[in-house]
Amino acid sequence: MILNNFVVFEGIDGAGTSTQLKILQERPESAKIDFSAEPTSFETGKFLRSLLGGKISLDPRTTAYLFAADRAEHVYGEHGIENSLKNGKAVIIDRYIFSSLAYQGVSCGRELPRMLNKDFPLPQLLFFFDIDPEKSLERIKSRGVTEIYENNEYLTNTRKQYLDVIEEYKNLDFAKGMNIVIIDATQSVEEISKIVWSHIAKLPIFNS
Ligand code: TYD
Repeated sequence: MILNNFVVFEGIDGAGTSTQLKILQERPESAKIDFSAEPTSFETGKFLRSLLGGKISLDPRTTAYLFAADRAEHVYGEHGIENSLKNGKAVIIDRYIFSSLAYQGVSCGRELPRMLNKDFPLPQLLFFFDIDPEKSLERIKSRGVTEIYENNEYLTNTRKQYLDVIEEYKNLDFAKGMNIVIIDATQSVEEISKIVWSHIAKLPIFNS
């Protein structure tokens, strides 16, 4: 199922999705948009944050289940995506099922993340911020704190998985209607924000 006015930003760590979301939040049109991210700020997401920070260590399969559980709350929960859309808002989020298919695809193989994520609704618009991990890691290192997946080998494999998953979704019948935009994330922040807005401006919510 595809949800209208639902937009997802994806990319490896350091690709610049959060920067673009911040720019969108400053636009006057943001009054019509609910913004959020995965892992969420719900209790389910807080637990994942300790995992990402390296405070706890779990089997990769457990991690895949936890990301899917957090996503279930994000989509179906009282303060979730479905309710925001029902209330007439657009929803724009940083990371979704494609993060699980790519990152957990690397850590525990393709099958489990596919099984856990196959029933979640799809966005109308998916942005994939594409960047070489060497460049994205330079950006991350300048921030000072690093998380468990933030190394060249892991992110190189994750980027490959992302590109495979995107190819696959382009050809899936049930994903027809999901518009996929691949962005060269080495461009300037200004250039990227223009491209991003040119696509978001076409959403039904801004054209009715
Ligand atoms: P990120 O989105 O970069 O947030 P922040 O900048 O606040 O650290 O970090 C989330 C990390 O979680 C990132 O390394 C990708 C990972 N992740 C998964 O492995 N699977 C998932 O399903 C999701 C949503 C995230």
